[in-house]
Amino acid sequence: MSPPIAPSNPAPRGRLACVGMGMTLGSHLSPLARSHIEQADVVFAALSDGIVELWLQRMHPDVRSLQPYYAEGKSRMVTYRQWVDVLMTEVRAGSNVCAVFYGHPGIFAWSPHKAIEVARAEGFIAHMEPGISAEDCLYADLGIDPGRFGCQHFEASQLLFYERKIDPTGYLILWQVGLVGDLSLKRFSTGAAYRQVLVDLLSQDYPLDHQVIVYRGATLPIQQPRIHRIALRDLPAAELSAEETVVLPPAAPLKQNLALRERLAALDKEASLG
Ligand SMILES: C[S@@+](CC[C@H](N)C(=O)[O-])C[C@H]1O[C@@H](n2cnc3c(N)ncnc32)[C@H](O)[C@@H]1O
Repeated sequence: MSPPIAPSNPAPRGRLACVGMGMTLGSHLSPLARSHIEQADVVFAALSDGIVELWLQRMHPDVRSLQPYYAEGKSRMVTYRQWVDVLMTEVRAGSNVCAVFYGHPGIFAWSPHKAIEVARAEGFIAHMEPGISAEDCLYADLGIDPGRFGCQHFEASQLLFYERKIDPTGYLILWQVGLVGDLSLKRFSTGAAYRQVLVDLLSQDYPLDHQVIVYRGATLPIQQPRIHRIALRDLPAAELSAEETVVLPPAAPLKQNLALRERLAALDKEASLG
């Protein structure tokens, strides 16, 4: 019996690209991200704004929103797992899939990392294309260089759920403060009493009159960034949506490490003798 003849056109292999849309409509999308969108068979969208989604629809005829998977009272983890399943169903069916996330797809975003991990484990080509994140906009709008004093980033709830070490000589950047303390992952906001727990924790390292910055970057070109400077003690009462990021500037000067400076000076001396 002769061996079966291999088909000349093997079935198309699915592939996945998770790309960042950037923060501001129309101005942050990179040429590479745009090319992934345009070349995809199907595009999924997890964006910050319905208007941004409409703009994306002008780039591709088959844009499917991931927003309807969210629901009040439903764990966000369930939603994020469903997103991975939806993307992978298309990849497994042989489609070239592009998933577009606002900001950077790999920053405070579980599903893109997971979907890429699953796709690669199943032998598909999967790629993450970075985007301009809220973090990037924050450095520009607030004039902060993270290299000057160093910079810690925390998901605000993680600071409450786990014992973490805060360094008040550098910047502290807190994400998702509007949801702080939500153990259920089911709420879209918590509230003043939850933020008070956060302030009580922070007050171990910062004075209550320390000026903190409540920041919201522009998502539409007609908007200006919102930058509110308030005392730490006023954070519970502040108006805060799910889209604000809170920045605590340093509260103490950098402290010299005299022992290591001496050690380095000794090395310098040895080097100049050599
Ligand atoms: C799930 S994370 C997504 C971050 C996004 N992937 C990025 O690259 O910026 C949501 C958090 O990002 C921050 N964020 C989202 N939109 C923002 C905006 N317009 N300005 C400042 N921070 C924002 C907030 O801390 C918010 O709670």
